[in-house]
Amino acid sequence: MASEGRIEEIKRAALGEISAATTTDELEAVRVRYLGRSAELTEIKKSIGSLPAEERKVVGKGVNVASGEIERDLQSRREELAAAEQEARLRAEAVDVTLPGVTRERGSLHPSLRVVDDIVDFFVGLGYGVAEGPEVETDYYNFTALNIPPGHPARGMQDTFFLDEGLVLRTHTSPGQIRTMLTREPPVYVVVPGKVYRRDSDPTHTPMFHQIEGLAVDRGLTLAHLKGTLAAMARHVFGEEVGIRLRPSYFQFTEPSVELDVSCFACDGRGDPDCRVCKGAGWLEMLGAGMVDPAVLSEVGYDPEEFTGFAFGMGPDRMAMTRYGISDLRLFFEGDLRFLEQF
Ligand code: PHE
Repeated sequence: MASEGRIEEIKRAALGEISAATTTDELEAVRVRYLGRSAELTEIKKSIGSLPAEERKVVGKGVNVASGEIERDLQSRREELAAAEQEARLRAEAVDVTLPGVTRERGSLHPSLRVVDDIVDFFVGLGYGVAEGPEVETDYYNFTALNIPPGHPARGMQDTFFLDEGLVLRTHTSPGQIRTMLTREPPVYVVVPGKVYRRDSDPTHTPMFHQIEGLAVDRGLTLAHLKGTLAAMARHVFGEEVGIRLRPSYFQFTEPSVELDVSCFACDGRGDPDCRVCKGAGWLEMLGAGMVDPAVLSEVGYDPEEFTGFAFGMGPDRMAMTRYGISDLRLFFEGDLRFLEQF
C-alpha cells in the first residue's frame, strides 16, 4: 500500500531531521514540518475517513505509530537541546567572582585643613562660635571699618586684588570681625576660618592662602586674656613643651598690637645656627594679634567704655608647613596626588 510505505519514509526523514537539529528553534521547525496542520502525515490522517474500511485500520495505525514515534524523538531531542542551550547561557553569563573588584580610592585631608580643624576644634572647646564670610568683600569691610581709611598707605601694603568698584578679594579674614560685631551684641567669641587673597607668589607666598581670625569682645578683657588664650592654643597645636613670646607689632585695627612667636620645635628653641626650620632664631612667627582698637568698636556700635576685646589672625598653611616640614607653600595648592597622599 502506497501510503504505508510513504508513512515509513516520512517517519525516517523526520527522525533524521530531528537528530540533525542543533537548536530548539530548528527543532520546532521540524515539528511544524512533520506534525503541523499542513504536514503530509496530517493530510494522510485527514484522508483516512475516505479510505475503504480495510485500509482505514492499517493506515490509521501506521499514522499513529509514526507520529507517536516522531513525537517521542522530538521530546527527547528538545530536552537535550534545551539543556545544552541553558548550559551555554549560564556559561556566557557567569560572573568570575575571583576577579579583583573596582576599588574606590580613599582621599585624605589636606594638610592645611588638618591644622584648621585642629585650631577650630580647640576654640570651639573654649566656647567660641564659628563664622564665615564672603571671599569677595567690600572695600568697607576689608579696609575702612578696620580703621584703614581710603588713601591710607596700609592699603598699598596688602597687595590687594581689586575687582569692580568697591569690591576686592579679601586680603585677610579680619572683615569677619566686622561682620560678626555688626550682627551680634557683645559678648562675642568667634573664630572665622577662610581663604584670603594677595598678589604674591614665591616659595612661601601663594596668591590664595588660608587664615583663621579670632575675636573676643566682653567686659574686662585684657592683654593677659589674649596671651593666655594664645598660649593655650600654641600648646594644643605644638605640644605642652612649646614656648611662646609676644613681640610688639602694629596693625591698624588693634592697639596695642603684638605678634606671637613659638619656640622652634626642630631645635627646641635653642636656635641652633644650622637649624633648617628657624634658621638659628630659635623662634617661629605664628600670628598677629592685639586688643581691638576702640575706633573699630565704635564703628560697629559697641561702646568702647563698656567693652574691650582682643583679636588674632593666623596662617594655618604656614603652620602646616612648620608642622609637616614642607618647604614650598606652592605644593599645597597644586593638587598633586603624590604630595597629598602623604598626609
Ligand atoms: N589681619 C592681619 C593680617 O592679615 C592679622 C591680624 C588679625 C592682626 C587680627 C591683628 C588682629 O596680617
